[in-house]
Formats: sequence, structure tokens, C-alpha cells
Amino acid sequence: MHADIGDLVRPTVRELPPVGPFSPRPEGRGLVNLRFNENTFSRAYGRYPDHGLRALALRYRETLDILEPPAPGPSSAPGDPLLTRGAVDALELVLRTFFEPGADALAVTPPNFGFFDRLAALHGVRRYAVPLRGCRHDELDVDTLLALPIKGVLLCDPGNPTSTHLAPDTLRELLERFPGLVVLDETYAELAPRPSHRHLVARHPRLVVLRSMSKGLGLANLRLGAVFADPVALAALRAAQSPFPVPGPVVDAALAELTDVPALRRRVDAFVAERTRLAKALADSPLVRRVHADAGFVTIEVTAPPRAAQALAAAGLDAVVEPDGWPGHLRLSVATPPENDRITAALAAAAGSPRPCPVH
Ligand SMILES: Cc1ncc(COP(=O)(O)O)c(C=O)c1O
Repeated sequence: MHADIGDLVRPTVRELPPVGPFSPRPEGRGLVNLRFNENTFSRAYGRYPDHGLRALALRYRETLDILEPPAPGPSSAPGDPLLTRGAVDALELVLRTFFEPGADALAVTPPNFGFFDRLAALHGVRRYAVPLRGCRHDELDVDTLLALPIKGVLLCDPGNPTSTHLAPDTLRELLERFPGLVVLDETYAELAPRPSHRHLVARHPRLVVLRSMSKGLGLANLRLGAVFADPVALAALRAAQSPFPVPGPVVDAALAELTDVPALRRRVDAFVAERTRLAKALADSPLVRRVHADAGFVTIEVTAPPRAAQALAAAGLDAVVEPDGWPGHLRLSVATPPENDRITAALAAAAGSPRPCPVH
């Protein structure tokens, strides 16, 4: 028997009284606002921002609908998302809403985004690790996940640090068979070679899709993210969210940025083209065993990790060595074309240099 999404919400959250009447402001109904305790003598920033964020949520959904039309096959348009301060805030909100500290457990699929582990620890949620399978580290071990006493699974697609997207058949199988919550962090979705899963939330009410405006859309400094989910899940998340989650100047800047869809598309396309160029160049390096580049960075498996790491550092390039504790791998942001040329040159030089003599 699959649980209803409402039954997966923490009892603590279900029993909360409704959040105060933040929105709409009483002024909109011709009343004097004696509720918000603002300083009416302030000029620019004296008023609390819009609590509901409806205009921005609608604009974001419409923008994504143009940038990323749904894949062929059964799906239905998701409603407007809940906006958050980046995907990390969305992740934290999901933990706070669904996982009872000291009681509930979740699974992660290493090599996974290290923040998942930190969050589970910070929230007192037991964590099981079920490694990804396959050469691309993209296959879920569905049978093992199904056998665990867990309330949910935290996944990342495309993955960090793997930079591969999840094998669609294993994800589909998990969505069909797993009775708990499937949280899919799609922070890098605009940059992935496969469509987002946000169109599946209507068919799979226990699926929660998290998005970020930081990466493909290039708006990291605005700190904006979003949750696409079943309306019952969204209502529970809203109840657990702190009031006025996004500052007004950020809303204004984001509304302006999201209006220019052609500019956003050019930004995404430019990034993907440069990532592809870097990945191809890295694949030719003798030090590099494998290259994965489905996300907003390139991950390489190298034959001599200390030598590769040293060569990059000596060239003034600060890559992540063994990202999230993944041995033998390096994670490289996609930098400017000249900087990316320095990456490939440094690794080529290191491959050509003689191995250091053994110390006797
Ligand atoms: C998998 C993943 N999720 C979330 C984030 C954070 O996203 P945001 O900037 O929207 O908080 C990152 C940032 O690197 C990430 O790699």
C-alpha cells in the first residue's frame, strides 16, 4: 500500500495552526495595517516583502515552460511552485516538513551531494547509504532501497558530484514501487541532456522536485529556488516555511531577469557548448580515465589523482579533489574558455612529466 503524501507529512507540521494572515496586506482592502509592526518612517525598505510570491512563482513556471517543454509521453503541467532561498533552503524545508527528528530515516545514493548528509545529521534523521551502480554511477539499486525502513530517498539528477543523469528506467521503477517520498534535486536541470521531471508530480504525488535559479539561469546571487510538488505537499511545506521567504529587491530583480527568455536561453546554450568543449579536451588527456559532463560542472576520473591535483594547483586552478569523499575523482567548474584551456594544458603537461622518483 502506497502512502498518501499527506500521511508522510510530520505530525508536528500537520498539527500546526495556520500561519498568520501575512497576505494579502490589509492596505489592499483599504484598511490601515496595524498588524505588521513596520517602521512607517522608513523610506525604501520599511515594508515586508510579498509573502505569497505568486507573481514570481507564475513567471518562473512560465519561463521554464518555454525553456524546457515536457518530454514526449504522459505528463501534465505542474502548478506554480513554492519559492525558496535556493535549492539548499528547499532541501532543508523538505527535511523540516516530512522527517521527524529522532524517528524517521532516509536514504542517499553515494556518491551523492554532501549537503544531503549534513542535513540529515543536522535534523537528527537516520541515514542509509545505497551506492549508485554502473560505470556512469547513474543506476539506482531499487530493490535495496525498497527493503530499507525509510520514509524517503534524496536523489540528485543530474548528480553532484557524478555529473551524470539518473538512468530513466531505474528512476521510473523507484517512482512506481517505492511507497515513500522521492525527493529529486534538479539544481542542474537546465544544463542536462534530458528533460526535467517536474511534469511527473501530478502522476507521482510522492515525488518532490527541487529546482534552483543559481546554475543554468545564472542567478546564484539572488538565492532563489523552487519546489514543484503535489498541492497537499506544497501546503505542508508552506506551513513549515518561515514567513516572507524572499526579499523584495530579489523578487524585483528575478522578475526582470526571467522576462528575457532569449537571454536565458543564450546563457544556457553558451554554458553547455563550453562544457562540451572542455569535456572533449579532457577526454583526450592520458591522465583522464573517464569524463562526465551532464551537470553544471565536469567530473573526471584520473589515473593519478595526486599528480592531477598537484598539476592543477600549480597552474593556479582550484578544483575539488575527491568531491564528497569520492576517491580518484576531481570536480571542475566550467570556467571561461581561456581558463578551461589552462586546465587541459596543466593536465597534459602533468601526463607528459616523468613520475617522481621513489624515496629510498
Ligand atoms: C546538487 C546541488 N543542490 C543544491 C545546490 C545549491 O543550490 P542553490 O544555490 O539553489 O541553493 C547545489 C550547489 O552547488 C548543488 O550542487
